[in-house]
Parts: sequence; C-alpha cells; structure tokens
Amino acid sequence: MNIKPVTMRQEEKKVDQLLWDVLWQPLNFRRNIRESFRLDKPQIEIVAVDSNDIVGALVANWLSSKEIEIRHIAVKPDFQRMAIGSSLVEELYRLIQDKTLITIQTYARNTSVGFFSKLGFKPIGNRLEVEGFAEHGIWLQQMLVTK
Ligand SMILES: CC(C)(COP(=O)(O)OP(=O)(O)OC[C@H]1O[C@@H](n2cnc3c(N)ncnc32)[C@H](O)[C@@H]1OP(=O)(O)O)[C@@H](O)C(=O)NCCC(=O)NCCS
Repeated sequence: MNIKPVTMRQEEKKVDQLLWDVLWQPLNFRRNIRESFRLDKPQIEIVAVDSNDIVGALVANWLSSKEIEIRHIAVKPDFQRMAIGSSLVEELYRLIQDKTLITIQTYARNTSVGFFSKLGFKPIGNRLEVEGFAEHGIWLQQMLVTK
C-alpha cells in the first residue's frame, strides 16, 4: 500500500470517483454534489494506492495558517478496517510536521465518530442535522485535534 499526496490530474479524477462511490452515491446525491462542498482554499489531497488502484482518499483544506479541515475521507468498502484511513490522516500529519499548533477539524458522520475518536479527535458542540444526510439517519459532529 502506497500512501502519498496526489500529484497527477488523472489521480484527481480517480479520487473524485472514489468519493462519489463511497460517500455520496449511497445517499442518492446528484453526481456533481462535491462542487457544493468545495472550499476555495488551498487543498491537500492524499491517496492510498494498491496495485495501481486508488482504494482510499483524504481531501483537506487550509482554513487559515493554523487551521486545517478534513473535508472528505473515504476508503473502499473491501479495504476498510485495514488501517488505511488512519494512514491517510498520518500522512496529513507528516505533510504539516514542520508546523506547530495546527488545529485539524472535521465534520464527522455519526458512523465515523469512533474512527476520529481513535485518532484523538474530540467532539465540540452539538450534532448537526443536515439536509440530504438526516434522511439516511446520518448527522454530523464537529471534531478537532491539535498537532
Ligand atoms: C471512516 C473510514 C474513512 C475509516 O477508514 P478505515 O481504513 O476503515 O479505518 P482504520 O482501519 O484506519 O481504523 C482506525 C481505527 O478506527 C477504528 N474504526 C474505523 N472505522 C470505524 C468506525 N466507522 N467506527 C468506529 N471505529 C472505527 C478501527 O477499528 C481502528 O481501531 P484500532 O486502531 O483500535 O484498530 C472508512 O471506514 C470509510 O471510508 N467509511 C465510509 C465513509 C465515511 O464514513 N467517511 C467519513 C465521512 S466523515
């Protein structure tokens, strides 16, 4: 398994497909839903590659010089619970290791709060009910960790 930052346009397209397959297609969202989640901020994309196949991806944005938001993280179902998600987050930490006191936040689905908790993220505030997710029993929890 190779965990690395995205460098090629071709990889960006595969990340887009993976996020769609794992995160949004199961909720019957429209295919271009990612555009409405996009932040116009510096972006970091990290992938997990297995035999030329992208099996996991993390997308994060710098919100400010001290804050990063993990916008999306997804691992193909057949590859979940194999430490790929945590390796993607570790790679993000490695990329920012020359900086200190960076706050990393995310809006975790209730189904992945346990994953982020294992990585040391703490919940803040109340759960958020968001249209499109709530109908599927999914709510979001803001969580953060400081590195
Ligand atoms: C959530 C997700 C990214 C985690 O990636 P993963 O590769 O399966 O996770 P890892 O194998 O690295 O797990 C790390 C730890 O978290 C735990 N964990 C993983 N997913 C979990 C979950 N959904 N709930 C509770 N704990 C979880 C693992 O058991 C492991 O614990 P351990 O260190 O004690 O063994 C992945 O399961 C996924 O893509 N899920 C569907 C999409 C999704 O919900 N994305 C997040 C949207 S906010």
